[in-house]
Amino acid sequence: MAKKQGSAGAAQQADEAPLHCIDLIRKKRDGGTMEERELAFLAQGAADESIPLEQLAAWLMAAWIRGLSLDETRALALAMRDSGEKFNPQGLGKVAVDKHSTGGVGDKTSFLVAPLAAACGLAVPMISGRALGHTGGTLDKLEAIPGYRTSLTLREFEAVLRRCGASIVGQTPTLVPADRVLYALRDRTGTVENPGLICASILSKKLAAGLDALVLDVKTGSGAFLRKREDADYLAALMVATAEAAGTRTAALMTDMSQPLGRTAGNWIELAECVELLRGERQEDSEDLRTLSLRLAGWMIHLGGKAATPEAGHQLAEAALTDGAGLAAFLKMVDAQGGDVRVFDDLKGNHKPGATKVLEAWESGFVAEMDTTALGWAVQRLGAGRERAGEPVDPHAGILFHAKRGSRVKRGEPLATLYATKEAMLGEPVNLVKRAIRFSDTAPAAVALVDRIFTKESAEAFLADMAPA
Ligand code: URA
Repeated sequence: MAKKQGSAGAAQQADEAPLHCIDLIRKKRDGGTMEERELAFLAQGAADESIPLEQLAAWLMAAWIRGLSLDETRALALAMRDSGEKFNPQGLGKVAVDKHSTGGVGDKTSFLVAPLAAACGLAVPMISGRALGHTGGTLDKLEAIPGYRTSLTLREFEAVLRRCGASIVGQTPTLVPADRVLYALRDRTGTVENPGLICASILSKKLAAGLDALVLDVKTGSGAFLRKREDADYLAALMVATAEAAGTRTAALMTDMSQPLGRTAGNWIELAECVELLRGERQEDSEDLRTLSLRLAGWMIHLGGKAATPEAGHQLAEAALTDGAGLAAFLKMVDAQGGDVRVFDDLKGNHKPGATKVLEAWESGFVAEMDTTALGWAVQRLGAGRERAGEPVDPHAGILFHAKRGSRVKRGEPLATLYATKEAMLGEPVNLVKRAIRFSDTAPAAVALVDRIFTKESAEAFLADMAPA
């Protein structure tokens, strides 16, 4: 059946003038404020594809440039949440909690926190995304496991949650379909880095999962979408206050993304790093990943009511990591979603990149600065991300970092190993990595892994301070 252009009728009231996408594009372009029903019209039109992509893209760019107010952001988040089916976790008989990150490089904590929280008696219905901009995507990483299905029906999602306590899936044509379309469109139209659009995208997924509690990992530093610290703080406060107003207990941890998290960035290699940690194997360069995952899981366990404080939650998470319960929960989830867990028997042997290049340090000194966004683009261009929507990604592409910020290296020592789909794809990423890393004679100042935490009260106070008197 032919789709009617830009006229998502479901959002329209009989007594109100009909809406046309072209009017909404022009309104936002000229700095106007969108009404709730206009945002619902856009979300519904994205979901049922009645609004053409070029019009959605134009509106997104107008919103990116003009910005979305607090009220517009909230209305868009709820409209996107309501664009499809919603999951009701009540029948699971467990408190439902989740974690979501604003996006980073080597940002793979989901594979640790979801099974750890599940092992501590919580349900983790996690709706995630694909690679976005310079950042990797949880779903792309999981699809490096042969057979793993990221697209489940609600019934299947519930069955996996009943069996395993955790399930990680993506948006589908029926589950947060508006974000499915807008997320992919933002990725290819340069409209990712906007607090209102990020907030609406993240919360639409989290609120559609019917969560009782949510922990947000809001990245700051050179690899974050919002590089200015005040923008990242605003995003955190906005998301916490919006989720709380929608009935979900929420906290946001402001975390460091001035370097890749852990020692890998890519698809399979990130999963392999997490499986090593779940097995209790520790490497110095993965310690930041382990520490941050335990902090996030500690907050999930606390907000989920299983621990009186986040610190006590941290201890429970660490116990589940140490005694193997986290690994068992992870393998159970992979198996329940069709993944072949035998692939983890040989983490190195099952990494089969088309081309490999060891990049040696071109100077001696301390690794002083990493332009983590540039490193993320290098990872994507090695084949780990996509140029066009729907393209397959290379599960084996990525970068293994041999040094972290603050490491002392000697000229000629391995700095990073780049894995590409084919030899011809190594050139641009090698140059990106060379430009992204700066050495110095003195050690750089240490940066805290977590430096501020927003809860309901502090988020509301932050937003109130920003409001015009
Ligand atoms: N994660 C999301 O789900 N959406 C964004 O816009 C950014 C990070």
